[in-house]
Amino acid sequence: MGNQQLTPSQFDTWANNIHHEMAFWRHWFSDEKFAAGRESRYHQLRHEAYPPDLASELGVSPGVPLRVLDIGSGPISTQRMRARPYPVELICVDALADIYNLLLDEFGYADCPRIHKIRGEELTRFFARDSFHLVNIANALDHCEDPAQTVAEMFEVCRAGGRLEILSVENEGEREGYNGLHQWNLQADDAGLWLWNLGMRINLLDGLGGRFEYEWGYEDHGQQDLRIFKVLVQKVSSARRRAVRPSRQEAA
Ligand SMILES: C[S@@+](CC[C@H](N)C(=O)[O-])C[C@H]1O[C@@H](n2cnc3c(N)ncnc32)[C@H](O)[C@@H]1O
Repeated sequence: MGNQQLTPSQFDTWANNIHHEMAFWRHWFSDEKFAAGRESRYHQLRHEAYPPDLASELGVSPGVPLRVLDIGSGPISTQRMRARPYPVELICVDALADIYNLLLDEFGYADCPRIHKIRGEELTRFFARDSFHLVNIANALDHCEDPAQTVAEMFEVCRAGGRLEILSVENEGEREGYNGLHQWNLQADDAGLWLWNLGMRINLLDGLGGRFEYEWGYEDHGQQDLRIFKVLVQKVSSARRRAVRPSRQEAA
């Protein structure tokens, strides 16, 4: 498991600034300028299906639900509740679940999944090992107090044949001047997924025992001033040598 926790002063900064995150989401629910974004996220969650081949790629047997865990989901997950013809069982967890559930009630999102108050660092306290086909974290790994522990926990609760998906802005700590929850940098390359700040740098894949295949690439999101990347870690069923595939897309 990871042990790359923040120093006491970094933790104080993290804890003291969690209210920025709450303030942002209240604004996101109430301000008209976010209406299109809210609607599109709600529509994706409730009505859009995962790509048709996903469930079979992740080893889901016919008639069995595709089990998805979204960590740091925010109030409305970026995941989906459909994967025709498979049922989907989507579980959303977030450190700020209590606040998000109040916001969902207040703003009338009764048909969205309620969020469980579970931190990424403690998944195996609440979920069985090898229990999810897809374990997602979007724009939240670098917000965690201990990203290395979170990735190790994600890997533990992922089934053999299942997949971790990690979406992140590149080097957010540097970009945001280490303000608020932005205490870490994440960066992917062909050698791995790097976690770093002013005092350390580690490859988050090194703790996974080589039982995976890895690929990564930049996402095309239309913004010039920041890079977003996605990492896929496919958990293999037997101990196999780690295979690192080349990136799908070069940096812009
Ligand atoms: C930028 S938001 C991302 C929300 C959503 N995934 C998205 O892409 O819009 C980051 C989220 O990470 C959550 N978070 C921060 N630390 C966490 C932790 N240790 N475990 C779980 N969630 C955490 C925050 O509460 C926040 O909801």
